[in-house]
Amino acid sequence: MSVLPIVTYNDPVLRKKTKPVEENNKELQTLIDDMFDTMYNSQGVGLAAPQIGKEIQLFVMDADGITEETEEEDLGPLVFINPQIEEKSGEKIKLEEGCLSIPDVRDDVVRPDKVVVEYLDRNFEKKKITATGWSSRVIQHEYDHLQGVLFVDYLSAFKRRLHRSLLKKIDKGTLEIEYPVVPKD
Ligand code: NI
Repeated sequence: MSVLPIVTYNDPVLRKKTKPVEENNKELQTLIDDMFDTMYNSQGVGLAAPQIGKEIQLFVMDADGITEETEEEDLGPLVFINPQIEEKSGEKIKLEEGCLSIPDVRDDVVRPDKVVVEYLDRNFEKKKITATGWSSRVIQHEYDHLQGVLFVDYLSAFKRRLHRSLLKKIDKGTLEIEYPVVPKD
């Protein structure tokens, strides 16, 4: 198992549309283990394949660190392969998001509270999950990565301007980041 370097803003791979995972094999299992290592190493709660340079429909999450504090149900470590959002509903809620590909940038994003997702787990077994609160938030954020969408896309022009110098530093590779990232050329 190993920690992989994370792709940061504004790398084009973060904007690519991802392809479905076709088969379960040893490489996929290793990749999943490495993604968990990478996520935990950077103290993240979710990591999507484009963030480690793979254009495939796969993300991992473990939001227990947050849900423990907010007294929500802990879902534990989860692997989502070829996820499809079946339903987004409930109250629109505002939560502060961040992203391992956009270090140090945090801001409020409004999203529906509830999400229903169909996906394959790491054994390629079909699963359906209903999530609310922070678990739902992480799922929606990671699912967006598979569509080439970043949380900063939801911010107003005004809010984005506030983050502009930090975004520029990340883009140029001049921000000091505490975990391995893909170097900028
Ligand atoms: Ni992210």
